Amino acid sequence: MTDRYAVFGNPISHSKSPLIHGIFANETQQVLEYEAILAPKDDFESCLKLFWFENGKGANVTVPFKEQAFNLCDELSEEAKLAGSVNTLTLLTNGKVRGDNTDGLGLVADLIRNISSLEGKRVLLLGAGGAARGSVLPLLKAGLKVCIHNRTQEKAEKLVEIFTPFGDVKALSIAELIGPFDIIINSTSSSLSGDIPAIPSCVIGADTLCYDMMYSKELTSFNSWALDLGAIKAIDGLGMLVGQAAKSFELWRGVTPEVDTTIKLLREKIESE
Ligand code: ATR
Repeated sequence: MTDRYAVFGNPISHSKSPLIHGIFANETQQVLEYEAILAPKDDFESCLKLFWFENGKGANVTVPFKEQAFNLCDELSEEAKLAGSVNTLTLLTNGKVRGDNTDGLGLVADLIRNISSLEGKRVLLLGAGGAARGSVLPLLKAGLKVCIHNRTQEKAEKLVEIFTPFGDVKALSIAELIGPFDIIINSTSSSLSGDIPAIPSCVIGADTLCYDMMYSKELTSFNSWALDLGAIKAIDGLGMLVGQAAKSFELWRGVTPEVDTTIKLLREKIESE
């Protein structure tokens, strides 16, 4: 029986994961199936159990099940423990389930694709929700100095409390946003509604690289704002999406897929939609 993999979410029909993992499987000559599964909002657990029973070997988890997935794991990676959420589940040979969070790792991999060195650079992370929390440890491990700014300051301070033992991380109020920063990452959901986080333009200098975790056919509102203010480069989250998938694939299959061609193919697909 062919090894099965899937992404669980609700909604899920928009997911690019089956396409990405299909490309990875072809390229690495791995024989597997990867599908999108719409789990009922109130019954993710039994849906997942059935999947394991029917030869499921690994799963990606997306909104709104990442925290539930975290609670269902027998073992957790350090990234998942600190993120408090899981996007990758692996059924181990002893029947236990391991949880990883590869979102932040995918982000860092994509930053490295775009800038040669991250070590010692100062990054402004906008937002303090799930997406931000999943990124902080990998950013710190990459040697970045992380400043978190969130509309609701207390949430940024909570993240700082969690991550202080792991590196140079602080919360900055709007008055403390004195730039420019080397890198600015937008993890807020503001781009979804075409908004931009309320931050002063001085955070952007001629060498600032801006990164929006969201991706879209057109320039995101945040990236458009950043380029207008003279940022050297503005990147959207498509590379992060492919990057997190590559880390999941590597965990499941023990082989590392090549991401550049996949990002290019996906970009072409999005632009033709
Ligand atoms: P996710 O899992 O995508 O991170 P989330 O946990 O709901 O989603 O977090 C959303 C983040 O986007 C929060 O940091 C939120 O700020 P608050 O904590 O103040 O709510 C931020 N956010 C959403 N819309 C925003 C906007 N228009 N401007 C600034 N920040 C915004």
